[in-house]
Amino acid sequence: MDIQVALQNRRTVRLFQQEPVPDQDLAELLDAARMASCGGNKQCLRYQVIRDRGLAERVFAQTAWAALVQPKRNPQWGSTAPLNFIAVLAPVKGGTVCHADAGAAIQSMQLLAFAKGLGCCWLGAIQRDRLQEILEVPAEMQVLYLLAVGYPAEAPIAEDVPGDASVAYYLDEQQRLHVPKIRRDDLAIWK
Ligand SMILES: Cc1cc2nc3c(=O)[nH]c(=O)nc-3n(C[C@H](O)[C@H](O)[C@H](O)COP(=O)(O)O)c2cc1C
Repeated sequence: MDIQVALQNRRTVRLFQQEPVPDQDLAELLDAARMASCGGNKQCLRYQVIRDRGLAERVFAQTAWAALVQPKRNPQWGSTAPLNFIAVLAPVKGGTVCHADAGAAIQSMQLLAFAKGLGCCWLGAIQRDRLQEILEVPAEMQVLYLLAVGYPAEAPIAEDVPGDASVAYYLDEQQRLHVPKIRRDDLAIWK
């Protein structure tokens, strides 16, 4: 897939088919993550790939989805929830650079997933204390984010809006999710 196509058309997916992602695809997402830029090439991030169904259900219970259109993009376990997650871990003492590293790694995974016909939701609204226990994360590490991964059961679209317009994502009458993106000329000053 052309990189421009992926960059423009990848959208966050919150409703999923009930088919697990093959291990090979999950492994390739990890390869995308580990090749991403990171501060000082220190590679502070670690990952847990969640495939076990029982564990995925417990992880899913610690997530929150699409606050602006609740409850219509709240996936339901057993029908529309993702079956796979990648947990992104960083040292507790890693500092803010780990969040930047995680951003680069997660976006790389999201783009590759899109090119493979998969959908993702980057999850920051997570119960980190509970995840620490459920995933048996050692005390010196913390869960920064989860990435939900699966086969999409929705097809959100982006639309360009002026800089002073609402950027709140919304559902149309057909229940399709629209994601406003501020148009280029209102975002950047050229000098
Ligand atoms: C740091 C970060 C945290 C996010 N956390 C959540 C979350 O907890 N739940 C959720 O449904 N979406 C979450 N998202 C997804 C955003 O809502 C989504 O990226 C945004 O609406 C733009 O949509 P797009 O990814 O389709 O461009 C998060 C995204 C980022 C970058």
